[in-house]
Amino acid sequence: MAAKPRVAVTRLIPEAGLDLLRTRCDVQVWEGDLPPSGDALHTLLEGADAALTLLTEKIDGALLDRHPTIRVVSNFAVGFDNVDVDAATARGVAVCNTPGVLTAATAEFAFTLLMAASRRVVEAATYVRDGKWQTWGPKLLLGQDIVGATLGIVGFGRIGKELAKMATGFNMTILANDAYQDPTAEAEYGMTYVELDDLLARSDFVSLHVALTPETRHMISTREFGIMKPTAVLINAARGPVVDTDALVTALRNGDIFAAGLDVTDPEPLPVDHPLVTLPNCIVVPHIASATVTTRDAMAELAARNLLAVLDGETPEVIVNPEVLKSGSPA
Ligand code: DGY
Repeated sequence: MAAKPRVAVTRLIPEAGLDLLRTRCDVQVWEGDLPPSGDALHTLLEGADAALTLLTEKIDGALLDRHPTIRVVSNFAVGFDNVDVDAATARGVAVCNTPGVLTAATAEFAFTLLMAASRRVVEAATYVRDGKWQTWGPKLLLGQDIVGATLGIVGFGRIGKELAKMATGFNMTILANDAYQDPTAEAEYGMTYVELDDLLARSDFVSLHVALTPETRHMISTREFGIMKPTAVLINAARGPVVDTDALVTALRNGDIFAAGLDVTDPEPLPVDHPLVTLPNCIVVPHIASATVTTRDAMAELAARNLLAVLDGETPEVIVNPEVLKSGSPA
């Protein structure tokens, strides 16, 4: 009887995904709370046919060369900036991700941050906890209106579109910027495509939903904060390095923008004494936009199904580099 394929899983993911893998594979899981260090990762990957990875693992050509038995890297995330896809493709290694199943959870969390930052929810709760609440105040903790405001969505893919649908319920004017303009989107979502600078100048809320690429790294920096309204709120539920951290600190300190709500930061995690953590007009949460029970189950199952399909020589539901299948590799 042929040996079961060996699968390395770089963190404890929901059982739904592990159970699927265990039906057919010999599964080794890194059970630490923190990501495996370099050596531990190499030990885990030794002899593996497939790796189910997290966004905390950097998968590059050198790592794949050291583990040439790996045929698929199935990332437990929609983002895959942690994987050098070109290096994987050059080695015939399939790269998969988990789009779709986390769209609603991520969009609703971006909207949660939008509401919390504009209405100063965390600052207000801290005010009460700190024993500062003495009376009702006409000018106490004033925020920014959401209903009827203008929302600028940078990156109008699945998550950006879902956010637009939610914003419609708040009667918001929706602007979007994207390198690719979907010809039916304006009619379907009641939004308008604009240039980035136009979006920044007109929006009361700017919400980032682009993938991290060389083009999007620091796409929001000092110049862009200079264009934004002083009442604007920035939301980042994409990737931390899309925003220039130092420029954001300066903008928040100087009142160039009103507030920020950050699910992601650069670096991650941020030190507890970092200005973005301590500034009252900034909310930082630990990269949890997709963190609902059902969404994480669905991500685990999709990542497992993708991985198994590649091992079976089939086309997975989602693959980032389908050309590796066409060339006859990696099966
Ligand atoms: C992703 O999927 O890319 C998120 O950042 C984590 O859900």
